[in-house]
Amino acid sequence: MTRRPPGVPAPSGGGQVPAGGRPLPPGGRPVPPGGRPLGALTRGTTNPNRLRRVDRWLAGPQAHRVRRADDPLAVDLGYGASGVTTAELRDRLRRVRPDVDVVGIEIDPQRVAAAQPLAGPGLAFVRGGFELPVPGGRRPVLVRAFNVLRQYAEDEVPGAWAVMTSRLAPGGLVVEGTCDEVGRRATWVALEVGGPVSLTVSLRLAGLDRPSDVAERLPKALIHRNVPGQRVHTFLSALDDAWARQAPLAALGARQRWTASVAALDSAGWPVLDRAARWRLGEVTVAWDAVRP
Ligand SMILES: C[S@@+](CC[C@H](N)C(=O)[O-])C[C@H]1O[C@@H](n2cnc3c(N)ncnc32)[C@H](O)[C@@H]1O
Repeated sequence: MTRRPPGVPAPSGGGQVPAGGRPLPPGGRPVPPGGRPLGALTRGTTNPNRLRRVDRWLAGPQAHRVRRADDPLAVDLGYGASGVTTAELRDRLRRVRPDVDVVGIEIDPQRVAAAQPLAGPGLAFVRGGFELPVPGGRRPVLVRAFNVLRQYAEDEVPGAWAVMTSRLAPGGLVVEGTCDEVGRRATWVALEVGGPVSLTVSLRLAGLDRPSDVAERLPKALIHRNVPGQRVHTFLSALDDAWARQAPLAALGARQRWTASVAALDSAGWPVLDRAARWRLGEVTVAWDAVRP
């Protein structure tokens, strides 16, 4: 029997029942067109403001994508039991581009019906899956899919990524990630048409013990890979080491300690893609190559 370190969940392969949708072919194989929404109905847990960390990234370093889009359309895939975080995404993106449209897509028809009272200017809710069926065949420049793939099997991830990215407008981005119930720990993969480009870790620094505590909130593509010998494990271990070495800075605040820790990784040659302005927020973004399975 394969032994897993504590905190590393078993891959959930094969157990998913495609209620309400149709399954993705494993291993990223092409999906036949047409038919029911692609994917499976899963738990609908959500919370107001839960996705503030990824939204701050979308409306910050990624804002240029919506700002420059010919059609400023964003999709929130799998918004859950209420459309509250979809409405928040609309409000946050409006500050970047007042004419933005956000479409929440859910595979569960009851959740689509429940969200309708929130629909209004720049905000609509429709039924669908990874194929992103936006009315009028419009292509989104941003897709946020949060806490959706977590409940799928690992071998369904490449297929879901391929279908979603194939729907993007030129210059578009998919963010696929996971966070805790109240949004204090989040990670996400950013994907362009050609595939994954980066991993972002975003943490509430107050009370942080070790950066690798975020491991249980890694995206599905990485969560089972946080074991010795895998890149993501090496990365989180390096972050832990840097955080431990910078412990004396704790007296000046966790923000200074985190900033110095990420700066140390950057100096050591890790492909850190962002700068201190983001580190101060408890964030770090690294190239996908540094962490990919
Ligand atoms: C845990 S909730 C996440 C809610 C919200 N995004 C958040 O992070 O708080 C996951 C939701 O994704 C929906 N879902 C799962 N697979 C889907 C798919 N392929 N297409 C659309 N919705 C999907 C489920 O029905 C469920 O409501």
